[in-house]
Parts: sequence; structure tokens; C-alpha cells
Amino acid sequence: MISKKMTERLNRQINREIYSAYLYAGMASKSASLGLKGFENWFLVQIKEELSHAKRMYDYVNESGDRVMLQDIEAPPQEYSSPIDLFEKTLEHEKRVTRMINDLVTLAKQEKDKTTEGFLQWYVEEQEEEEEHAGGVLEKIKKAVEDNGDKGVSIINEYLARRVFTPPEAKV
Ligand code: FEO
Repeated sequence: MISKKMTERLNRQINREIYSAYLYAGMASKSASLGLKGFENWFLVQIKEELSHAKRMYDYVNESGDRVMLQDIEAPPQEYSSPIDLFEKTLEHEKRVTRMINDLVTLAKQEKDKTTEGFLQWYVEEQEEEEEHAGGVLEKIKKAVEDNGDKGVSIINEYLARRVFTPPEAKV
């Protein structure tokens, strides 16, 4: 049985994961409006990633004998100044999520809740991967633009078009 406080915090995290999907949906749409179908594809795959993060936590809360209580999801930002900006904001967001996950781990430790602490370990590793991935793309875009100007964005657009969704279960 997990504590009431932990259940509330996990519910909050489910909300943040779904918000992440919403944020990336906005970025996908912005990419499409710029004619960058590869960028759009990357963010559409990211939506699936985020929903899978939410679903994993949803299952954990439900299987713990508690109920998922859904809360409001605010509108994400709509405007981004450039393709680089999209990935700067992505990396910033992922760093924020990492801090939230780390805070949850701290709470689990304080409550001596080993089961939840173990459960969260998957998210700790996933966040390392998320930051590395977003940061890697950001560096690639910056370098491509530096070396090739606007053509650099097209090169990265082709690269991002190749991303496919791998369900997290399949990564283990
Ligand atoms: Fe679910 Fe991108 O963190």
C-alpha cells in the first residue's frame, strides 16, 4: 500500500506525463506548419513515448489499490522561434521532468517505500535517455545549421523522419 501523499504525487506525475504529450503535440503541429515533416514525425513519436510513461504509472497506481484521479491539463506554449528553439525547449522540459522524478524518488526514500522506489528506477533511467536523446538532436541541429545554414535544417529534417516508436517494454 502506498501512502496518500505518494498517491497524490504519482497522480500529479501522470498529469505531467500527459502534459508532456500535449506539449509535444504542439511542437509537432508547429513543425508541420514550417513544412518540417521530419521534425513533426520526431514529436509525434515523442507523444507516444510520453503516453507510455503515463500508462505505466497509471497501472502502478491502479494495481496498488488506489485510483488515478485525473486533473486539469493546461495549454502548452504555441509559439517557437526556430527549429533550434523547439529542441532547446524540449531539452529544458525533459530536465524539468527529471527533477520531478528525482523528487518522487526522494519522497519514496523518506517514506521507506521500497516498492515505489524500485518502480521509479525505470523512470530515472528513462529520463537519462530522454535528456541524452533531446540533447543529441539539439547538438546535431546546431552543428548542421552552423555548417550548412538553412540546408542544415533540411538535413536534420530527413534524419528526424526516420524515428520510429519503440514501446518501452521492448527496450528492456
Ligand atoms: Fe516522460 Fe519525456 O518524460
